Amino acid sequence: MTTRWRSTSSLSSCRSPAHPIQYKKGALIRDSPDPCYTSSLSSLALYKDPLHLNKKKPSHLQMETSLLALLSTTLLVTLYFFFHHLRRQKSPKLPPGPPPLPIIGNLHQLGSLPHRRLHSLAKSYGPIMFLRLGNKPTVVVSSPEAAELVLGTHDSIFSSRPSVDALRHLSYGNKGMAFAESGAYWRGMRRLCTLQLLSSAKVESFAPIRREELGRVVRRVRAAAAARDAVDVSAEVGQLIGDLACRMILGCSTRDKFNLKPVIHEALKLAGSFNLADYVPLLGALDLQGMTRRAKAVNRAIDKIFEDIIREHKEDTTGKYKGDFIDILLTGMDHPINSSSRDEPVHIMGRTNIKAITLDMIAASYESSSTAIEWALSELIRNPRVMKCLQQELEAVVGSGRTVEESDLPKLKYLEMVVKESFRLYPPGPLLIPHESTEGVEIGGYYIPKRTRVIVNAWALGRDAKAWAENAEEFLPERFENSSVDVRGRDFQLIPFGSGRRGCPGMNMGLVNVRLVLAQLVHCFDWELPQGTSPSELDMSEDFGLSMPRAKHLILRPSYRLLV
Ligand code: HEM
Repeated sequence: MTTRWRSTSSLSSCRSPAHPIQYKKGALIRDSPDPCYTSSLSSLALYKDPLHLNKKKPSHLQMETSLLALLSTTLLVTLYFFFHHLRRQKSPKLPPGPPPLPIIGNLHQLGSLPHRRLHSLAKSYGPIMFLRLGNKPTVVVSSPEAAELVLGTHDSIFSSRPSVDALRHLSYGNKGMAFAESGAYWRGMRRLCTLQLLSSAKVESFAPIRREELGRVVRRVRAAAAARDAVDVSAEVGQLIGDLACRMILGCSTRDKFNLKPVIHEALKLAGSFNLADYVPLLGALDLQGMTRRAKAVNRAIDKIFEDIIREHKEDTTGKYKGDFIDILLTGMDHPINSSSRDEPVHIMGRTNIKAITLDMIAASYESSSTAIEWALSELIRNPRVMKCLQQELEAVVGSGRTVEESDLPKLKYLEMVVKESFRLYPPGPLLIPHESTEGVEIGGYYIPKRTRVIVNAWALGRDAKAWAENAEEFLPERFENSSVDVRGRDFQLIPFGSGRRGCPGMNMGLVNVRLVLAQLVHCFDWELPQGTSPSELDMSEDFGLSMPRAKHLILRPSYRLLV
């Protein structure tokens, strides 16, 4: 008992009795009825007295206490690491990736050309790489094998799209197809577009429009050649593809009354940008990059044009719009978009749906084909040998007495190789359109959680040294000579149109546009750089958006080379 009271009183004398820890210690000792227990508790009290307030400690007791402290600490540390390791083993393993910063995650590492930065990051972290873009878990896929796992093996899981803030304002609340999440609505829209708007027969039916518009360009360039003027090839090709798209989709060309190109260019730039509002929702309302404001402005401009066009279609009695996309969509107005066979809601085609899908079609066809043509022609200028081979093939198949017809295309094998090689190095959508996982899944030994954004770096796949050998950076169409590798989505080292459920439904139209226009421009004209610039000096830098156009317009001096 004496010891008990001494211990308590010694504590009391050192500290104020009001101090909760001291009071608790005293209370603990006082309440113990067993002297032995009391003494062991006293030694525990010594151990628990790191400031050595209790100075009356025998030396053997001090040693015992230190030993106990050491043992307990070792045990605790061992237990911590054991359970930590166990938890890591049990919890699924995320792919490796660069460490994120607080709040912005890895957003600062994307730079102004994300396909290039992601490619170099993947060299350090591997072909399946985990990033945190703001608070959004993101996986970047950079090898053909990994792309096959995402777009082939587990296509059904990765066939959704993440919701992107600017796009919601731009594309009528994602009521189109390209940015709609997977589900009944997207399936219905996709079926409708594939069967009614983009079928082979439909693409074929627009051949006269292509001949007419391309003929117009050839005449314009021929006039420039006669005057020894340089031509802005980027502008000419952009105008041509825009006119083709508008005539097929809207039933009128951009010459008629509006210029959609700057609006669509802005829309694609917004669609491809990494908007802080998507990744750091807290900053969304501030709209620091002004993207919400720009998206709303683009939508207002587009909506006005679409409203006029729909009204004209409805009022028309001459039949001049028969068969264009708007005409077909209007005949489906107030009808179901998807079938009611599954346990899913049925969506009805309304005015907003028509405008949203029209915008998708125009945006998807506008820059993709013109970008592909620009890059192919740029590489032909830089590689006079390849240009010569292509012109020789055209002379052999078409001859100098006429221009290229669509029926010539299947016979132009070297042209096909040139186009493939250009798509390999310059996929018009370098990161495709982002995908999103609808459930957790393991790929390549890593766990990808539900609702992870998945970016497929098609630009990196085309430069994969394993798939393309050491000369992957070289423009060498002959690499396809005895190869069955194609752009249609079966060969994951070359997927300019994506692959699987979300693969491009406009591929046939895109391919015919690119092959025909390129063949015609190369067959009708010799091209050289103005002011004695040498081919190796041609600036090949790129811009980044949802598509990857040349940063600087391609300006060339043409000379006409046909006999007619
Ligand atoms: C050279 C021309 C073209 C290229 C390189 C191209 C490329 C692509 C790519 C990479 C995607 C995304 C695939 C993915 O996310 O996995 C895509 C989607 C799409 N493309 Fe194309 N495209 C071209 C022409 C066209 C044309 C002419 C149209 C229609 C008129 C079109 C309509 C679409 C649509 C609607 C989607 C979205 C599909 C979906 O999300 O389900 N494309 N395209």
